[in-house]
Amino acid sequence: MKAVILAGGSGTRLRPFTKIINKHLLPVGSYPMIYWPIKKLAQAGIQEILIVTNKEDIDLFNGIFGSGDELGVQLFYTIQKEKGSGIANALYCAKDFVSEKFVVLLGDNLFDDDLEPYIEDFKKANYGAKVLLKEVGNPERYGVAIVDDKNQRIKSIIEKPKNPESNFCVTGIYFYDNSVFDLIESLSPSERGELEITDLNNLYINRNELNYDILSGWWLDAGTHEALYNANKHFFEGE
Ligand code: TTP
Repeated sequence: MKAVILAGGSGTRLRPFTKIINKHLLPVGSYPMIYWPIKKLAQAGIQEILIVTNKEDIDLFNGIFGSGDELGVQLFYTIQKEKGSGIANALYCAKDFVSEKFVVLLGDNLFDDDLEPYIEDFKKANYGAKVLLKEVGNPERYGVAIVDDKNQRIKSIIEKPKNPESNFCVTGIYFYDNSVFDLIESLSPSERGELEITDLNNLYINRNELNYDILSGWWLDAGTHEALYNANKHFFEGE
C-alpha cells in the first residue's frame, strides 16, 4: 500500500515562524515535524510515500529528506498549486500517484499508535474508507464523530460543535479507496473557500462506508504554538 502525507497549508496559527518556513519543517524533538509521520509509515512497512506541499517549500523538503534512503522509504514530492485551498484539494494532488487503497496522513498529526494493524484491516475491508478517532477532553475544537459501534460505522461528523455529542474527534489519519478522487471532483468549496475533508468523509457516510477505529495511544495535532511545545515535550521525554 502507498501513502500520502499532506504538508501544504498556510500554518497561520504558527506565525511568525510560518511566514518563512513550512509548519511541517519546524523542529519536534531532534527532527522536523514531518519526520515522525514518515517514520510511522516506514515502521508499518509502507515503502512509497508522496509528500504534497507548497511550491515555495518543495526544495526544502527535498533538501532534508531527498529520496528517502536514510529513512528506508521512497519519497516523492508534488505541489498543491492553490496554496491553502483545503485538505481535500491537497489530497486530489495524489490522483496520479495511487491506483488502489492508500493511507493519508496530515503532516502535523503526531501519534504513538502503530499503523500496521489499521492498514492490515483496511486491506481486507469491504468498505471504502476508514478514519481514526481519538477520545479527547476538548472535542469542540475538532470534527466530532457520532458512531454506530455495533456496525463500526460513523453516523455523522460535526465540525467544531458547541455542544459535542461525543468525545471522539476525527484525527488526520485516513484510509481511502481509489473512488476518493471521483468524490473529490464532486465537492464544492466551503464558505471559507476550501475543499473540506469533512465534506469528503460525509460522502462516504452517505454510502454507509465510513468505518473507524479508535487510537489508544498519545495523539496530537501540532498546529498551534502550545501544541508544538507539547509535541516537543513528548518526544524529548520519550527519547
Ligand atoms: P490546517 O491546520 O487545518 O491548516 P493550516 O496548516 O493551513 O494551518 P492554519 O489553520 O494554522 O492556517 O491543516 C491541517 C493539515 O492539512 C496540515 O498538515 C496541512 C494540510 N493542508 C494541506 O496540505 N493543504 C491545505 O490546503 C490545507 C488547508 C491543509
